[in-house]
Amino acid sequence: MNVLTISKIKDGTVIDHIPSGKALEVLRILGIRRGSRERVSMAMNVESKKMKRKDIVKVEGKFISEEELNRISLIAPDATINIIENFEIRRKFRVRIPERVEGLLRCPNGNCISNDGKEPVTSAFRIEKSENLVFAVCMYCGKKIYEIEEYLV
Ligand code: CTP
Ligand code: ZN
Repeated sequence: MNVLTISKIKDGTVIDHIPSGKALEVLRILGIRRGSRERVSMAMNVESKKMKRKDIVKVEGKFISEEELNRISLIAPDATINIIENFEIRRKFRVRIPERVEGLLRCPNGNCISNDGKEPVTSAFRIEKSENLVFAVCMYCGKKIYEIEEYLV
């Protein structure tokens, strides 16, 4: 059975194949919160051909930045971005996990130099992938982050 859970959009961005339950985090990354004016629809825990269950986010009139894409890739490494113009898919691409990110994650290690308020140090992490697990390694202290969404700035 093929059920259309949320309607198609005219112009904007569809972020598809988000891991189940992560749609709210994607909305947060896109800066969509209480009081936002964008027309947004989302579906959580819907059927998917490629995954058991997935989330989808659709934002009308939204242009997604490189930095937002990087953040999204860390929590939704298999997400597909669909750029919609006049109801047609203009562009479809997978997010790409960057090799390193600067200033996007906070190091969990309180003694790390990147957490020392006195030093003007921007956090820097190497992103690694093993199987379908994505984790980040602090380039200053070596601390590994497995629950990436908890440390996204
Ligand atoms: N979509 C939309 N508005 C449009 C066109 C597409 O909201 N005007 C959405 C679809 O609902 C779907 C996503 O964009 O969630 C991708 O559309 P499509 O490529 O047609 O679907 P699939 O073939 O299932 O995509 P994929 O191969 O990436 O799984
Ligand atoms: Zn660190």
